[in-house]
Amino acid sequence: MKRIAVLASGRGSNLRAIHAATMGGALAGVAKIVLVGSDKPDAPALAFAVESGIATVAQPKNSLGREAWDAAFVEKLAPHRPDVIVLAGFMRILSKVFVEAYEGRIVNVHPADTRKHQGLGGYDYAFREHLEETTVTVHLVDHGLDTGPILAQRTVDLRGALTLEDVEHRGLAVEHALYPEALREFLITPPVGLRK
Ligand code: GAR
Repeated sequence: MKRIAVLASGRGSNLRAIHAATMGGALAGVAKIVLVGSDKPDAPALAFAVESGIATVAQPKNSLGREAWDAAFVEKLAPHRPDVIVLAGFMRILSKVFVEAYEGRIVNVHPADTRKHQGLGGYDYAFREHLEETTVTVHLVDHGLDTGPILAQRTVDLRGALTLEDVEHRGLAVEHALYPEALREFLITPPVGLRK
């Protein structure tokens, strides 16, 4: 069983989907969530972890620079010995301190095609541009902003979506299905070059 640490800043709907998958879905017998970490001590994701009996680490934003914040956070993750870091709405750009500590082992879900739209507001972008479809991406995190190798993508049908809420609702449904499946594939058959 692989040990995964899920990092989330907010609502935590992807965390819930991944947790459900470890309990009896795509990740059952493959992975276990050993830790939920956050930069927001009041994140609903952390409350869910506590309810579910999962260890938590919360480190609020502070006046330290990005690298010092990351170094302190990486130190707090270490005792939980995660094999893989799973970003699920973790709204921080990781510095090289973090990326190098878990090189090739940090996975992210992004609400757009990372080749077309990076950073925040993936669903706002799709709504504003009146896209008929968008693409959810699961990718490895490298030193750039949403530039890492793509592990999996899936199309979201946006035809007839009249509100941003509708766009987001449809997109999240795809994320919740795709992310556990992509993680399963990644954990069982790591991409060539990352195999031990
Ligand atoms: C998800 O839509 C995820 O793709 C997005 O944040 C949301 C988190 O929702 N991530 C990014 O935009 C990262 N650039 P959740 O807290 O309900 O899982």
